[in-house]
Amino acid sequence: MKLGNYSINKPVFMAPMAGITDKAFREIIQLTGGKYAFTEMISDNALLHQNSKTYRMLNLDGEQEPRIVQLFGSDPEQMAKAAIIVEENNANVIDINMGCPTPKIVKNGEGAALLKNLNLAEKIAHAVVNAVKIPVTVKIRLGWDDSGIVALELASRLEDAGICMISVHARTREQYYSGKADWKWIGKVKKNVHIPVIGNGDIQSPQDALRMIRETGCDGVMIARGALGNPWLIGRTQHFLETGEFLPEPGEESKLNVLLNHFEKLLEYKGEKIGLNEIRKHAAWYIKGRRNAAEYRKEIMTTQNPNSMRAIFQKIFLE
Ligand SMILES: Cc1cc2nc3c(=O)[nH]c(=O)nc-3n(C[C@H](O)[C@H](O)[C@H](O)COP(=O)(O)O)c2cc1C
Repeated sequence: MKLGNYSINKPVFMAPMAGITDKAFREIIQLTGGKYAFTEMISDNALLHQNSKTYRMLNLDGEQEPRIVQLFGSDPEQMAKAAIIVEENNANVIDINMGCPTPKIVKNGEGAALLKNLNLAEKIAHAVVNAVKIPVTVKIRLGWDDSGIVALELASRLEDAGICMISVHARTREQYYSGKADWKWIGKVKKNVHIPVIGNGDIQSPQDALRMIRETGCDGVMIARGALGNPWLIGRTQHFLETGEFLPEPGEESKLNVLLNHFEKLLEYKGEKIGLNEIRKHAAWYIKGRRNAAEYRKEIMTTQNPNSMRAIFQKIFLE
């Protein structure tokens, strides 16, 4: 498939995840064989107010192309201005969030609220497409609730507005993240537009990704929760889709090295205090399901010093 000038074959995207897909995480995805990763969602408003924390989220230095930045907002003009800032900061693709279900986002008319206001969704898409030279994509849900499925109409209106790829999280806003994603809608959207469609929802393994492509005809897939504490899933799935070869999960030592590397990157990009805090949630995912995980988690949650955190990680994986 084509994404602007990029020719990409059966892409496996690391989904945008607020609080997760920061620079450290995206680099880990790429170091473990993943090729495509979205940033966290970034507020147009915060960018226009030159919020320094938000600006730091735009640091894409050294990351592989295409670098994809996700924006959210509800005002077409503001979104266009924010898109220009993103383009000037070295992004290769801008993605617009039309699916975030969080009340504080929705009440501002942003994210999934746009599923109830297709005219505005279309205006935002137009404004952003016209403001920048780089390709613009959109991530949607099926609709607000079961009685308001708008994915087909929205996708074709977005295509007409010049959007060049659509990712479909096959749930409604009302579902948040629960229940099963209804993949049949991904297939329906795919049949309804001529631009690439990326399927998203409930992919936990390389085989799930292949099954989604076979069942829906989608051009690529996107994985979110399955990659938590399991970043190599993105690279393994990419490899499987490209070659048919199923790579086993990495061994204990490789897993430890990835976790340690993830920690070093968080310390480097966010400093000791935030880095320590953030590795705690990731580490809890990395060790999920292991023997003694609950005990180890307690240690991880209370350790205040990077060296003792490293030592705990060593103990967990090499004992
Ligand atoms: C903690 C968390 C943060 C998320 N943040 C974003 C976000 O910033 N932008 C977005 O479009 N979707 C966001 N999502 C939705 C995911 O990208 C994805 O659509 C959803 O989790 C379904 O995929 P999955 O079944 O593979 O998890 C988030 C999901 C979770 C669980």
